[in-house]
Formats: sequence, structure tokens, C-alpha cells
Amino acid sequence: MFITFEGGEGTGKSTQALILADILKKNDVDVVLTREPGGSPGAEIIRNLLVTGSVDRWSNMSEVLLMYAARADHWQNTIKPALDNGSWVLCDRFADSTVAYQGYGRGVNREFLQLLYNYVVGDIEPDITFVFDLDVYEGIKRATTRMEGNVVVEGRFEAMDMEFHKRIRAGFLEIAKDNPSRCVVMQADSHPKVIHRQIIDILQERKGLSWKNLPA
Ligand SMILES: Nc1ncnc2c1ncn2[C@@H]1O[C@H](COP(=O)(O)OP(=O)(O)OP(=O)(O)O)[C@@H](O)[C@H]1O
Ligand SMILES: [Mg+2]
Repeated sequence: MFITFEGGEGTGKSTQALILADILKKNDVDVVLTREPGGSPGAEIIRNLLVTGSVDRWSNMSEVLLMYAARADHWQNTIKPALDNGSWVLCDRFADSTVAYQGYGRGVNREFLQLLYNYVVGDIEPDITFVFDLDVYEGIKRATTRMEGNVVVEGRFEAMDMEFHKRIRAGFLEIAKDNPSRCVVMQADSHPKVIHRQIIDILQERKGLSWKNLPA
């Protein structure tokens, strides 16, 4: 089972991926929790190039190719082996983020992005994608509040202008509309526990999963 968590900055993706991983482990599921950009030693080095430094550090094309260089490494060394091994892979951001940020956000040709996907990943798609939707101001507020406690500040994308973040939000909703059997839009302003419960119910309804150890 390949599950991805998508959406704009500070929408709660990492929070929900972590608590889903926890409950799955309590249900004796073999889980690999990973993230993009990054998720393998090589891809984490590339991540550092992408998420730090000045906003205009990379051209749109360089950014896309760096994202896909990282994804190729992550796919080959982390995701594919884990899926082949029968593990559940929970991935905090994946290819939809490239379509939303570099495609809808920056105007990179989306057919080109699909072509890259086909070459790098092939014909495998996530079984389910949770798309977290939240007011962009609220999301950036959450993300920057969280960052102040970090030693390494990975703020390059958070620092981009609000119009960019609005295009990304609209882009994710468009992606979800275009892929209704894969994507579920989550209202990210609910309490984390409520969202977690919805995720559990959706996995039960859509994927027929039965749970033994559920949170109270
Ligand atoms: N449903 C929620 N309601 C209120 N605050 C939340 C909720 N979910 C997460 N948060 C808080 O918002 C902040 C951002 O959450 P989180 O790191 O999970 O978002 P993210 O989508 O992974 O962000 P990023 O895109 O920057 O990685 C954290 O401080 C987290 O505790
Ligand atoms: Mg996160």
C-alpha cells in the first residue's frame, strides 16, 4: 500500500503521516514513513539544496530537475524496495507537489512533468493520496511558528509570495478533481484527532482495511 500526503505549507501533512504510521505499527503493519524531497541518503542531500537559501536560487527548470533527481534516488532506494517487500509506504509529499508547486505555481509544462513521472516512477501511482486543504495564510502561520523552534531553517518555499501559495492551493484542488479515485481532499482546519479519524475511516471504506487497535 502506497499512501501519499499532499498539500500546501503547514497543512498538517507530517503530523498526520506520523500518527497514521504509529497506529499502523500498533496494528502490526510493516510501515516505512518517508518524505520528499528526500527520503534516501542521496535525496536528502538534494533536499538541502532545494529547501534552503534564497527564493530565486534556482530557475524553474533546475528546480524541477533537482526534484526529480531526488525522486529518482528516493524511488529506487527507498519506496520501490519497500513496496516490493510488502511494506506500507507513507510518503510525506510526492509527485503531486511537483505538479502543484512547479506546474501550477511556476508554470512549468505539466505534460513535461507527467513525462518525467513516467520515466522515473513508471506506471505505479499511490493507492491513495490525502490532499490537505487550508487557508494559505493559516498554513504559512502554522509552518513559520513551527520553524522558529528549528535549528536548521528550511524556509525557502515558505518565504515565497502569497499569490504563489494561492496558485498551489488551487493546483492541489485541481489535481484532486482530476484524480477522484486516488485523491481525497481533507479539510485541514479540523482538530488533528478528527482528521486522523477521518483518514482511518477512509482507508476502511476505500481499501477495505479493518483495524484492531484504534485510538479512543
Ligand atoms: N489540524 C491541525 N490544527 C492545528 N494545528 C495543526 C494541525 N495539524 C498540524 N498542526 C500544527 O501546525 C504546524 C504544521 O504542521 P505540519 O508540520 O504537520 O504541517 P506540514 O503540512 O507537514 O507542513 P510543511 O509543508 O511545512 O512540511 C505544526 O506546528 C503542527 O503541530
Ligand atoms: Mg511537513
